[in-house]
Amino acid sequence: MKRNVVVGQSGGPTAVINSSIAGVYFEAKQQGYQKVYGMIHGIEGFLQGKIVDLDEYLADPMGIELLKRTPSAFLGSCRFKMPAIEGHEDVYQKIIDIMEENEIDTLFYAGGNDSMDTVKMLSDYAAATGRKQTFMGVPKTIDNDLPITDHCPGYSSAAKYIGTSIKEIIRDNESFGAAKPTIVVVEIMGRHAGWLTAAAALAKGDDCSGCDAIYLPERTFDLDEFMAKVKHLAATKHSVVIAVSEGIHTADGKFVCEAGGAVLPVDAFGHKQLGGTASNLCRIIAAETGLKTRAIEFSTLQRAGSHISSLTDVNEAFESGRASARAAAEGKTALMPVLVRESQDPYLCGIDLHDIHDIANVEKPVPDEFITEDGCGITEAYLEYARPLIMGELIPVYVDGLPRHLVMKELFD
Ligand code: F6P
Repeated sequence: MKRNVVVGQSGGPTAVINSSIAGVYFEAKQQGYQKVYGMIHGIEGFLQGKIVDLDEYLADPMGIELLKRTPSAFLGSCRFKMPAIEGHEDVYQKIIDIMEENEIDTLFYAGGNDSMDTVKMLSDYAAATGRKQTFMGVPKTIDNDLPITDHCPGYSSAAKYIGTSIKEIIRDNESFGAAKPTIVVVEIMGRHAGWLTAAAALAKGDDCSGCDAIYLPERTFDLDEFMAKVKHLAATKHSVVIAVSEGIHTADGKFVCEAGGAVLPVDAFGHKQLGGTASNLCRIIAAETGLKTRAIEFSTLQRAGSHISSLTDVNEAFESGRASARAAAEGKTALMPVLVRESQDPYLCGIDLHDIHDIANVEKPVPDEFITEDGCGITEAYLEYARPLIMGELIPVYVDGLPRHLVMKELFD
């Protein structure tokens, strides 16, 4: 008889990471596992023995439906870097011991690059010490920068949010017929990769003129060229909307948000917490041109907007969770489901499994063919890639006029 499994979430949340948890739960039960535990606040909480039996929330199918409509990490997240195995065997052994105590055969971890590193390290330790426990990744990141997979669950919903919001911003800014335009700079997440910022290009269509310029971290940012572009746009248009990645940096490697000597906090993985790029640029634009500016930072909103999730994304996140659980039931370990685009029109995506060692810690940048020659625009090839991903909507369950979420009370104990 199959024993138990545990699933955890880690890193920045997305609008659909909970769909993946629902998928793991659903499939693990189908495969005959007894208990599906959730780890509270990822591996950090697990090391303190914090787990919860998910039957309490998900045994009722309505629980799964609500979870699919709940943004953020239902189980709680963490940014916890596993130490090197050598010299820290006790940390790894503790995780194995907690698994053994709770008769847990497999640990699933949903996250991005850093979280896949955790899966890799744990599976390496288990292999090196001859343990029978298995470890599986479940992909998630709004940044869309995991390699091998066509795209990452979480990206498409954030892209849909960004395309929609940029469209609404352009609509708003175009409504003023003033002789001098307001310059709007919108800052979008994606630390080192510009996938999310590229999604600003989705706004353009029959009813929207689209962004005037889009700056990704894949290209070095030149302030003089940027200002020349802004001045030209201001002289020729009555509305200017520009999208910039939070990760744009100048030739000296400094983030634009660090300009003016800002000291950015650093997380456990050594990542600087970015933010303030749009405000910095607006300050410079206003000082040099005297024009009215508006800085908009999508910040948390772009990864928490489950009211506008892509149904394609929700389904792919759920199926990725299921694929991971199915593979674990077959005795596999150290793998992550990857999305494989089988057909573009009609859009069809299958799921394969790939060795975690090729995925952990590798960041996939936006390829050259998706960026225009001048470095501040997005090509049609990107739009062809991204458009199918944002298709479909999952309507929230509304209570008192607001979307209803599933909340785990143990998170607040
Ligand atoms: O890793 C996903 C991500 O959303 C990045 O795009 C962003 O830079 C980062 O997380 C923000 O992290 P935090 O929420 O810890 O500030």
